[in-house]
Amino acid sequence: MSALQKMMGWVDDRFPLTATYKAHLSEYYAPKNFNFWYFFGSLALLVLVMQIVTGIFLTMNYKPDSMLAFASVEYIMRDVDWGWLIRYMHSTGASMFFVVVYLHMFRGLMYGSYRKPRELIWIFGVLIYLALMAEAFLGYLLPWGQMSYWGAQVIVNLFAAVPFIGDDLSIWIRGDYVISDATLNRFFAFHVIALPLVLIALVAVHLVALHEVGSNNPDGIEIKKKKDANGIPLDGIPFHPYYTVKDIVGVIVFLMVFSAIVFFGPTMGGYFLEANNFIPADPLKTPPHIAPLWYFTPFYAILRAVPPMFGSQFPGVVAMGMSIVLIFFLPWLDRGKVKSIRYRGPIYKIMLALFIVSFVGLGYLGLLPPSPVATIIAQTFSVIYFLFFLLMPWYTSIDKTKPEPERVTG
Ligand code: HEM
Repeated sequence: MSALQKMMGWVDDRFPLTATYKAHLSEYYAPKNFNFWYFFGSLALLVLVMQIVTGIFLTMNYKPDSMLAFASVEYIMRDVDWGWLIRYMHSTGASMFFVVVYLHMFRGLMYGSYRKPRELIWIFGVLIYLALMAEAFLGYLLPWGQMSYWGAQVIVNLFAAVPFIGDDLSIWIRGDYVISDATLNRFFAFHVIALPLVLIALVAVHLVALHEVGSNNPDGIEIKKKKDANGIPLDGIPFHPYYTVKDIVGVIVFLMVFSAIVFFGPTMGGYFLEANNFIPADPLKTPPHIAPLWYFTPFYAILRAVPPMFGSQFPGVVAMGMSIVLIFFLPWLDRGKVKSIRYRGPIYKIMLALFIVSFVGLGYLGLLPPSPVATIIAQTFSVIYFLFFLLMPWYTSIDKTKPEPERVTG
C-alpha cells in the first residue's frame, strides 16, 4: 500500500472523503444525452464563485459611506492595481449571472425538469432566483451613482404602496425618510454577507436535491427505470470524467464571451452599466428616465402595465409579485403526459413560444419610457404571461402528445 493510499485510508476512517467523491462524481450516473442546455448549471456555479472572489477584492477598497462611496469606486477603477478588471468582472458577472440563469430556467421549461420528482430542485431554484434579484438590487446602490440612488428610490417606494403599513414599511427598509447613508450601510451589509450566505446555502440544497433524484434529460424520461445487473442506469455515464470534461468546453466558450465583454464593451451600450451611473448620486436632481437594468425590466413592465387604483400603485405591485410567485407553482400546474418539449403536442409549443416572446417583449418595453402604445403592448404581453401559467392545467391536459421512447435518444 502506497503512502498516499495509507493517508486516504486514514482520512476515510474519519471523514467520508472517498465515499463522497464516488457518490457525487465518479459513481454518480448522469444521463448520457445531455446537450448544450445542460452547461448552464455549471456555468451558474462558475459565475457565483467569480462574483464572490471579485466581490471580496472590491470590498478591500470600497467605502460604504455616502460621502466616499462614489469616489472609492473611481479609485478602484483608476488607482488600484487591476482594480478596473476586478470591478468590470463583477459588474459584467452580475448581468451574465442572469443570462446564464435565464437560459438554465428556460431549459427547465423545455424539458419539464420541474416535474415530479424534481419539484424541490425547482423550488430551491426559484428561491435562488429571488435571492439573486435581491442581491443585484442591493449591489446596484453601492456605487452611489444617479441610477443607484434613484433606482433604489423607485423600488423602495413600491413598498410604500402597500395599504396601511406601506409608509412605515418603506421607512423601515431605508432606515430613513429618503435613501441615505443609513440605507447604503444596510444594503452593503446585506450585499456582502447576508445574501451571499443565503445564496450559497440555497445552491447547496439545490444540488443535494438534484443528486437525490438525479438529473432529467432532453428526452424527459427517467434513466433510473432501466438498470443493469449492478444497479447502474443503462443510459447513465459517470459524472466524472465525462461531464467534468464536457463542462470545461462550456466554461471556455463562456469565458471567451465574458472576456470579450469585460475587455471591449463593459458597459454593453448601457445595458450592463448605465451611463447615468457614472454621475454621482444627487438627491436634488431626478434623472428624466429611470429604468432598472435589463434583467428586472420584464417585471418592471408588468408593474407599469397595471393602471393605478385610487391613485395607488398597489395593483401593479401585486401583479408584479404574482408574476414571480406563479413560477413556484409550475410543477403542479403542468398536467402534461410527457415532460420534454420533444414529445409535447402543438399547444404547449405555441404557449411556450408566446410566453418567451412576451417575456422578452416585456423586458424590452420595460427599458423604454412609458407611452400609450407601449402600455397597450405591455398589457397584452402581461396577459399572455399570466395565461401561460393560469391556463396550463387545461392546455397541457388536452394537448396531443407523442409517445416517449423507452431509452434516451441522441
Ligand atoms: C446560482 C444559481 C444556480 C446554480 C449555481 C444552479 C446550479 C445547478 C446545477 C449545477 C445543476 C445541474 C446541472 C444542470 O442541470 O444544468 C442544476 C440543475 C437544475 N436547476 Fe439550477 N442552479 C441555479 C439556479 C436555478 C434556478 C433559478 C432554477 C429555476 C428556477 C433552477 C432549476 C434547476 C432545475 C429544475 C435543475 C434540474 C435540471 C434537469 O435535471 O434537467 N436552477 N442547477
